Formats: sequence, structure tokens, C-alpha cells
Amino acid sequence: MSYRHFGRIGDIWKHIPLCEFLIIEQPANYIETNSAYPEYQLTASFEQQYGILHVEKNIQKSQLLQQSAYWRVLSSISEKKSGLSKYLGSPALALNILKGTAKNFVFFDIEQACLKEIAEYAKKLNIAQQVNCRNEDSINGLISMIENLTPHDFIHVDPYLIHEKNANGNSYFDAFVRAMRQGIMGMLWYGFNTFQERENLHNGFQKQTGIGSRTRLQGIELRSILLDESILDVNPGVLGCGILIGNLSNISQQYFKEIALEITNIYQNSTMFGKYPGQLIFDEFEIEI
Ligand SMILES: C[S@@+](CC[C@H](N)C(=O)[O-])C[C@H]1O[C@@H](n2cnc3c(N)ncnc32)[C@H](O)[C@@H]1O
Repeated sequence: MSYRHFGRIGDIWKHIPLCEFLIIEQPANYIETNSAYPEYQLTASFEQQYGILHVEKNIQKSQLLQQSAYWRVLSSISEKKSGLSKYLGSPALALNILKGTAKNFVFFDIEQACLKEIAEYAKKLNIAQQVNCRNEDSINGLISMIENLTPHDFIHVDPYLIHEKNANGNSYFDAFVRAMRQGIMGMLWYGFNTFQERENLHNGFQKQTGIGSRTRLQGIELRSILLDESILDVNPGVLGCGILIGNLSNISQQYFKEIALEITNIYQNSTMFGKYPGQLIFDEFEIEI
């Protein structure tokens, strides 16, 4: 299985905002560039204990989280009284949230196996006809779709490397910027493990900056207080991760800030792998493109 990071802290700071943006914005079409699998079996690994299982354990502390679309979907699939045994990837979260409202879904991945599972999952939800799975490079795939998308559509871009150029000289960030300039709604996720990696990512953002432009991306990063503390013996998946959003409503923008604060609150007295402080910090920024 390609995606090992399911249910880890990076998924927390991706799936909670994503689900709420989808509920708030009610897009006509949902396009995901890097889909991976719809469902995963949790193993209670240390990484998951610091991720989804920490959220589950502390859910009573936060009304905002309890009422979130993310928590409603995840708790509805729970088979055990003792708690969550399965986790949902972003394709299944989006399908559950938008199944009654969106017209079409497009899921890209270069791995055929995960697309097959998405198609089967959609069949179980009785929405197989609305789901188009595309087994191809999604930088090219997304760029070729952009001119047919509208401000009612939502793209979710979630690769490993956002600035790496493909054979046509385009990166995921380039494709995302193009879509945002056209007014399409979207979110892009990225991860980092050191301040140097974070700086490299931000240097890449600068290359597309358009001072005075009316198109703005709102960014929020969540990071461990251990970033650059030379902790080599534990790794929760990523030590920091960011989300850029564009063309979303004020309600989504406001929620984005509130949920970042709420997540840092429930991690305040946490531990990472029972060994180090698990506390998180968040940073907000804006990019004109
Ligand atoms: C980070 S995972 C996606 C996780 C998923 N979005 C979620 O949140 O549950 C990245 C996925 O991108 C796929 N991928 C990598 N390069 C790709 C490319 N050029 N085009 C399409 N998919 C790609 C991988 O096969 C993998 O399944």
C-alpha cells in the first residue's frame, strides 16, 4: 500500500479543514489530484496514537471538533463501541460529505490499485456513475482540466513534492496557482521536517508571487515545538505541515483559523510517542499570486 501516513498528524491537519470546507462550500464538482486509498485499518501505532487516536481520546474537550464534519463522518463508520478501528482517506471523506450534493468527482492517482478501491467505495455509496477515476500524472491532468472548471468547483492537491517539475516543466504548485487565478476553489497541503525544508517551500512560493494581485492564498502551518530540535529517534510522519487555500468564502477562512487554534489546544499537554512533548504551534500567512 502506497500511503503509510494515514491517521497520522499530517492527516489531522488536512482532513479536518478539508471536510469543513466541503460542507461550507458545497462544490458542484470535486477534483483530487493525489487520491490514495479510501479506507485504512488502524493499527494503533505510535504515529496513529499521536494522530487520530489522540483526537479521539480528547474529542470531549472540543465542541468545535465534536461538531466537525470530519468527526461526524469518522464516528459514523466506527464499528466498535471501544472506538475507531478504521480510518478514511480524503476520497472517502469527500464522497461521504458530498454524495448528496456534488455532480461529479474526479480522482487522480498513478496507482491503479487505489483507484479501483475508490470506484468500489463509490459503488457502495450508490454514486459510482458520478465518479471518474483517472490513472495518470495529475499535474498534466489538472492543467488540462482547468479551463473547463468554474468557481463552483473544488480542487484538492495533496502530493509529496509540491515544487518538483514534471517533464512539461510544471509543478503541483504551478498548477494550483493557475487554478486559483481562474477563481476555482482549492486547497493544497505540504509537509516539512526542518526549518530549512520549510524555507525551501516558501522560496518556491515566492517565485509565483504577484505583488498587488487580487488573488490571495491564505496559509496556515502547524508544527511541532520539536522542529529542528534534533530528535532523531521518533518521527510522527511529519514535524510540520501547511495548507494553502484560495477562493473560499469568509466562513471557511474564519473556520480555518479557529480550527488551527483548536487543534493546538488539544495537543497542549500531549506527548509524542510517550517520550517528548507533543505540543504544536501554528503560523498564519498570506501570498499574493
Ligand atoms: C499523500 S498521498 C495522498 C493521500 C490522500 N490525499 C489522503 O489525504 O488521504 C499521495 C498519493 O499521490 C499519488 N501520486 C504520486 N505522484 C502522482 C502523480 N504524478 N499523479 C497522480 N498521483 C500521484 C501516490 O500514488 C499516492 O497515492
